[in-house]
Amino acid sequence: MNSSSQKISGVMRNYGDPKLEFVFGKGSYLTSTAGESYLDFTTGIAVNSLGHCHPKLIAALQDQSERLWHSSNLYRISQAETLAQKLIANTFADRVFFCNSGTEAIEAGIKIIRRYFYSKGHEQKNRIISLTSAFHGRTLGALALANNPSQTQGFLHGDGGFDQVEYGNVNDLKNKINDMTAGIVIEPIQGEGGIRVAMKEYLAEIKDLCKINNLLLFFDEVQSGVGRSGSLYAYQELGTQPDLLATAKGLGGGVPIGACIATENIAAAMTPGTHGSTFGGNPLAAAAANAVLDEILSPNFLNDVKKRSQYLFAKLETLLRQYPKLLRDVDGMGFMIGLGFHKDASDIVKLAEEKKLLLVKAGRNYIRLLPPLNISVSEIDEAVEIIECCLQDSGWSDFLIKDASAAKNGLQEKRNAYAKISGKKLFFSLFFFALPC
Ligand SMILES: Cc1ncc(COP(=O)(O)O)c(C=O)c1O
Repeated sequence: MNSSSQKISGVMRNYGDPKLEFVFGKGSYLTSTAGESYLDFTTGIAVNSLGHCHPKLIAALQDQSERLWHSSNLYRISQAETLAQKLIANTFADRVFFCNSGTEAIEAGIKIIRRYFYSKGHEQKNRIISLTSAFHGRTLGALALANNPSQTQGFLHGDGGFDQVEYGNVNDLKNKINDMTAGIVIEPIQGEGGIRVAMKEYLAEIKDLCKINNLLLFFDEVQSGVGRSGSLYAYQELGTQPDLLATAKGLGGGVPIGACIATENIAAAMTPGTHGSTFGGNPLAAAAANAVLDEILSPNFLNDVKKRSQYLFAKLETLLRQYPKLLRDVDGMGFMIGLGFHKDASDIVKLAEEKKLLLVKAGRNYIRLLPPLNISVSEIDEAVEIIECCLQDSGWSDFLIKDASAAKNGLQEKRNAYAKISGKKLFFSLFFFALPC
């Protein structure tokens, strides 16, 4: 029973058979069972927003763990109420529902949208639209909503009351909206098929369609939220306000907590008994999330994220210019960044792990860079150096011709594609191209 694979033999194999195990974390680094140190650009898939074992999180959890761990929503939970107030004060929302994960925050949002129209006497208005390449989690509702065949096979029967439209295609959306449509769910920054930031004008058009057709706009910021975009939530950078929003992952900094936040008008539909969660807003999780938000909302924290993100983007764009036959594009915002390759990026993730940098893929051809929000400049330098070493050692000789003249234009291609689909001329696209944040 010594090797890692034997140790996890009782765990279901839905996560495959990972070999590496970590026993210690400090700041941006993790230490393995073999005592080796790894620079963590995965942060547990966008969870450890303040890195590992942040002293303020430790203090908050220690303090709370000595007083009360759990009492349930049968009673008031002041830690959850404080957290709700912080979210309300810093977003569009007036009310918060707490749960334990991203997918539960999505489920809550789906229920709130349907219940809202039900409470207004429009029970037939219950279908919800999602976009292609979406990911909203693994519960049955979230799976049916995102409708990705690689994840739904064998699980779904019927369409669950969801429709899907092509990402970026406003006409497709217009055609799908009918009297039964209640809402639209969008990730302002998609994270699964590669990192894709929604264009401001696309979101604005969708918001207009929501107003015209009396639909609710629901943003999934499970991954992009809690400072990862450089703002508390990405919608604040992108200029379109939703009616409700799902948040989780980075909120607890490593402790499971999620929330669906909404305006008063919509939240009013959730009368007593309509929804619930045993652990939702648990004092321990809420204490951790309060400490995370206090740090992220402290003066200059988010400005610093933006500055260091620009620094990382500049370095990645240099790589893009130097290795145009290998690298395709870089997209993202803040510290949610996708580096696109012309082929499957799995080898790069493996090579990086050998060189003690942890990366996670997004889709087939992208690696996702999700460092702690407080990553230092020297740690960014270290990561980019390792990535460059991986490019050089990748053995993809055909792709390794340095050619600065073939400068990257993947982002520009995406924006042109949107302009083509939507029939709009984007005079300012070059401006966006130059300023990824
Ligand atoms: C955009 C988005 N929505 C929802 C989820 C589901 O979150 P969880 O795994 O916490 O249920 C994820 C998880 O990766 C996500 O990235």
